[in-house]
Amino acid sequence: MPAEDALLKVEGVHVEFPILKGLVFPRRVGSISAVAGVSIEVAPGETLSLVGESGCGKSTLARAILRLVTASAGQVLFKGVDLTKLSPAKMRPFRRHVQLVFQNPYASLHPRMTAREIIAEPLRMLGMDRREQVERAKQAMQRVQLRPEFGDRYPFAFSGGQRQRIGIARALSVNPEMVVLDEPVSALDVSVQADVLNLLKDLQADLGIAYLFIAHNLAVVRHFSDRVAVMYLGKIVETAPRDRLFKRPAHPYTEALLSAAPMPDPIRERKRQRIVLRGEIPSPANRPTGCCFRTRCPKAAAICAQIDPPPVTLAQGHVVNCHFANA
Ligand SMILES: Nc1ncnc2c1ncn2[C@@H]1O[C@H](COP(=O)(O)OP(=O)(O)OP(=O)(O)O)[C@@H](O)[C@H]1O
Ligand code: SF4
Ligand SMILES: [Mg+2]
Repeated sequence: MPAEDALLKVEGVHVEFPILKGLVFPRRVGSISAVAGVSIEVAPGETLSLVGESGCGKSTLARAILRLVTASAGQVLFKGVDLTKLSPAKMRPFRRHVQLVFQNPYASLHPRMTAREIIAEPLRMLGMDRREQVERAKQAMQRVQLRPEFGDRYPFAFSGGQRQRIGIARALSVNPEMVVLDEPVSALDVSVQADVLNLLKDLQADLGIAYLFIAHNLAVVRHFSDRVAVMYLGKIVETAPRDRLFKRPAHPYTEALLSAAPMPDPIRERKRQRIVLRGEIPSPANRPTGCCFRTRCPKAAAICAQIDPPPVTLAQGHVVNCHFANA
C-alpha cells in the first residue's frame, strides 16, 4: 500500500458524459456515469493494475487523470498538486510527468508522421530545441530496442509490436515519473505480447517509473502488478496486493473474474469451478441503487439494493466494498 507520499492520489473522481437528444437543438436528457467516485493511489516506482469488464470506465478514468476528459467531481493529486484545478498553462509542466500509452498502436500513431517525429512530439510541445529533440528521440528509440535509423520510417512500415514500442518511446522521451498503460498489449499478437511486457518491466527497473496498468487479461496482471484494483460499473470494488488478491479475493465480482481465468498450476486448474455471472453489465446511464453489482451478484441480499457498501479493510492494503466481505 502506498505510504503518505503517494505519487498519484485519485480521490472520489466522477466523470459524466451527457446524453443528448435532437439534432438541430440538442438538449441533455440524461447522463452516463462512466466513473462514479473512484479513489486509487500509486506509489513511486510501483505498478497498480486496474482490471474490469469492457465499458466499466477504465479508459475514462485514465483520461480523467491526464485531463483529457474533465472530472465532474473529485481530485487528482500528483505529488500533492490537484491537477483538476490547474489552468491549461499551469497543467503543461505536469504533462511531462504523467504519460499515456494507448490501447491500439494501429490507430494511435499519426500515419503521416515519421517514427522520430512521433517520439519527439512531446519534446517539441515542451519547447525543446530541435537538435536536442532528435538526440532524445534517438535515446528513447534505443531504450525500447528500436534501431534509431528506423526513425525516418512511417508507422505503416512497422509491425504491431514495433508500433507499440514507438508509443512507449514517445511516452518515455520526456522522462516521466508515471506512465498510464491503457491495455498496451491487447491489440498485439500473443507472440509479441510477452516481449513488450518484458520491455516495460525492464524499463521500470532501470528508470523507476510508476505504472497504472489497465488490463483485461488476469494472467498478464498477475505477472505484471504490485497491487490490483478491480473496477465494476465505474467504481473500484476491491483493491489488494497482487498475491493476496489472487489467493483470497473477497468481492463476489473479483471471485467471478478469477474463476474465469485459467490457472498455471495444472492441479488447481483441474479443480477450478467457474462462477458464471447472470445478465449483462448494467448501463452506466441507469445505475442500480445500492451496490452497483447487485443485479448480477450471486450473494445479493435485501440490504444490497438499499445501501451502497462502504469500504471495509480486511488486511493491510486489502479494501473491499461489499456488505458481506467478511462472511
Ligand atoms: N466520449 C464519450 N461519450 C459518451 N460516452 C462515453 C464516452 N467515452 C466513454 N463513454 C462510455 O463510458 C463508459 C466507460 O467507457 P470506457 O471506454 O472508459 O470503458 P473501458 O473500461 O475502458 O472499456 P474497454 O475495456 O472496452 O476499453 C462506457 O459506457 C462508454 O460507452
Ligand atoms: S454488497 Fe451485496 S450485491 Fe454487492 S457485492 Fe456484496 S453481496 Fe453482492
Ligand atoms: Mg478502455
